[in-house]
Amino acid sequence: MVRWMLGLAAAIALSGGAIAQTAVQRGDYLVNSILTCGNCHTPRGPGGVFDMSRQLSGGPQTWDEPTFKVKGSNITPDKDSGIGGWSDADIKKALQQGVRPNGTPLAPIMPFNFYKIFLSADLDAVVAYLKSVPAVKNEVMPPIYKTAMQGEGPPGTDKQANPADMNDPVNRGFYLVTIGHCMECHSPLVNGRHDFGNLGKGGQEFKGPWGVAVSRNITSHREKGIGAWTDAEIKAAITQGKRKDGSPLKPPMGYGLYAKMTDGDLDAVVAYLRTVPPKE
Ligand code: HEC
Ligand code: HEC
Repeated sequence: MVRWMLGLAAAIALSGGAIAQTAVQRGDYLVNSILTCGNCHTPRGPGGVFDMSRQLSGGPQTWDEPTFKVKGSNITPDKDSGIGGWSDADIKKALQQGVRPNGTPLAPIMPFNFYKIFLSADLDAVVAYLKSVPAVKNEVMPPIYKTAMQGEGPPGTDKQANPADMNDPVNRGFYLVTIGHCMECHSPLVNGRHDFGNLGKGGQEFKGPWGVAVSRNITSHREKGIGAWTDAEIKAAITQGKRKDGSPLKPPMGYGLYAKMTDGDLDAVVAYLRTVPPKE
């Protein structure tokens, strides 16, 4: 009995706890950590703190771009103002192809180009979790599109990951960094399109109540990037929003959500970041 329990504990530790999880629990873990869906879809109360009593019922910010004007949708199961009337297949199509059941496209602020890599089990888990959260009635401003929507993901992210990849820290890190759309913020924008040839070079501006934050170079470059940082320094940046010198990093990166990642997943993210080719 004792030996059996030790074996089970070791197996759970190795898998990051995954084997004991239901689909809803796995979806909860993913949505509320690496995926940061709430960063764009959950309303905020005073001081910018997430209003979890209305979680996922529509984001506070508006993206008013030359080609579209949109807000983060209500993705709770409310039948009228949310996605309660959508089938599982409808939700997956929106997540991976950026198309609603009525055929309208989603603006590429919604990182659907980063979600084609999803393992089927993880995608099922996200859908199961979305269907489990309380339905909240909240009409979000309808989107406005001024041209056809387009978007793309970084190289190697256009096809589904292989479950066997999860055993290798670098491949698993690539998977996590992709579904976490880190490189959407950390690659330069040139004429409104991502320059993934300069993957991780940073330089995008994010305006908000915090002023302007500029995404940083997170390539393995030893001076311009994070190549000379220790693992602990990189993890403190991701989960606590601390620079190498200890001073605070600004939003909108979802530090508090990444703080819920397992050590195994964080180690994998760091292992992958170390392989990102250096950029000046
Ligand atoms: C960077 C911000 C951002 C993140 C992160 C994000 N979304 Fe979105 N999402 C949006 C925006 C903005 C829209 C609306 C786009 C539009 O109207 O064209 C949207 C639309 C959607 C829709 C379509 C809903 C509808 O009624 O049309 C679904 C479903 C969705 N998101 C689910 C998710 C899930 C699940 C996650 C996490 C895996 C996620 N989103 C992460 C910004 C984001
Ligand atoms: C919504 C956009 C966004 C997303 C998503 C995002 N980041 Fe960031 N990140 C930023 C911005 C902006 C900064 C700089 C903030 C500042 O300088 O105050 C930053 C800073 C950092 C830093 C600190 C680097 C330095 O030189 O100080 C690291 C490391 C980092 N991000 C890694 C990641 C990783 C890994 C992910 C995915 C798990 C990620 N980021 C997702 C926007 C983002």
